[in-house]
Amino acid sequence: MKALVKQKAEPGLWLTDVPEPTIGPGDVLIKVLRTGICGTDLHIRAWDGWAQQAVRTPLTVGHEFVGEVVETGRDVADIKPGDLVSGEGHLVCGSCRNCQAGRRHLCRATVGLGVGRDGAFAEYVALPATNVWVHRVPVDLDIAAVFDPFGNAVHTALSFPLVGEDVLITGAGPIGIMAAAVARHAGARHVMITDVSEQRLELARKVGVSLALNVAHTSIEAGQRELGLREGFDVGLEMSGRPEAMRDMIGNMTHGGRIAVLGLAAEEFPVDWSRIVTSMITIKGIYGREMFETWYAMSVLLEGGLDLAPVITGRYPYQEFETAFADAASGQSGKVILDWSA
Ligand SMILES: NC(=O)c1ccc[n+]([C@@H]2O[C@H](COP(=O)([O-])OP(=O)(O)OC[C@H]3O[C@@H](n4cnc5c(N)ncnc54)[C@H](O)[C@@H]3O)[C@@H](O)[C@H]2O)c1
Ligand SMILES: [Zn+2]
Ligand SMILES: [Zn+2]
Repeated sequence: MKALVKQKAEPGLWLTDVPEPTIGPGDVLIKVLRTGICGTDLHIRAWDGWAQQAVRTPLTVGHEFVGEVVETGRDVADIKPGDLVSGEGHLVCGSCRNCQAGRRHLCRATVGLGVGRDGAFAEYVALPATNVWVHRVPVDLDIAAVFDPFGNAVHTALSFPLVGEDVLITGAGPIGIMAAAVARHAGARHVMITDVSEQRLELARKVGVSLALNVAHTSIEAGQRELGLREGFDVGLEMSGRPEAMRDMIGNMTHGGRIAVLGLAAEEFPVDWSRIVTSMITIKGIYGREMFETWYAMSVLLEGGLDLAPVITGRYPYQEFETAFADAASGQSGKVILDWSA
């Protein structure tokens, strides 16, 4: 089968033939229809410092996908050939304290699909049945392909109650924009999103934020005044991974404010801990999705009318992966989809 493979320990990806995956008794074989390109895939393609320590070559990359089940192992009961499915990209150990307690998203030995084991940028992918989400309500294929990052957005956005609250989101990448749509849908009063890219702020405006603010020109304080806030934001969602964004967020929260942090900073950085203490701010780190409570929430949010269509900005046949990756790496796009069905 065709697959996008990190073949050599150097920048690049290679479209090549690899053997079809085989499945064990608890696994599911999936024919991949569409995949989403993620920042992680860009890191692996660029072969930066993180990728060099996280990846062993050769590796089939990719973790965001939708596909159709073609075969199930003998122990798999409630997934059938023909089911439309997406995959949870974190494979957990099943035996640590958190796994045993049913808190699989807190597993201490998570392996990433397309990072620690062969991934989904291929004609077929095999996964444990426990990592498969069956789409039981109709869903757009492009949106189904990005359930993994949509799950990051939902997990982060629904970490704290949002009804009637004023929400600050730093970073209008695809995940920040999806989180803004979720926060609005979930009943926040104001949703302000920040970025330094005008193209991305323009995308964010399409999902209906109160204010999309370019922090290269305007401060968050000025944004607060524009919205008529008097005491700061109630909830913060950090989705840029930038130290200055985290610092500005801490400085603009109300007393007792709550911050959920998804953004991954490249390096350690200082923040004003006295401010966090005296403003009595709660900070929660978010990694991945809750299995499978977040997935349930995603499906029913879409069923209830949440519209993520503006987030999808490009779709390419997999043969044109170089163009697609350049689009995704431009810093101006939303989610870029590879189509594996042709
Ligand atoms: N914790 C997890 O499980 C998890 C999973 C996926 C992604 N992530 C991280 O979440 C973040 C968001 O993911 P994404 O795919 O949307 O990333 P992205 O890189 O596409 O988006 C980040 C955005 O932040 C903007 N930005 C840069 N400086 C800023 C500033 N000072 N203030 C506000 N915005 C600024 C960038 O212009 C960009 O649009 C990334 O840091 C990513 O590494 C974490
Ligand atoms: Zn991803
Ligand atoms: Zn575990």
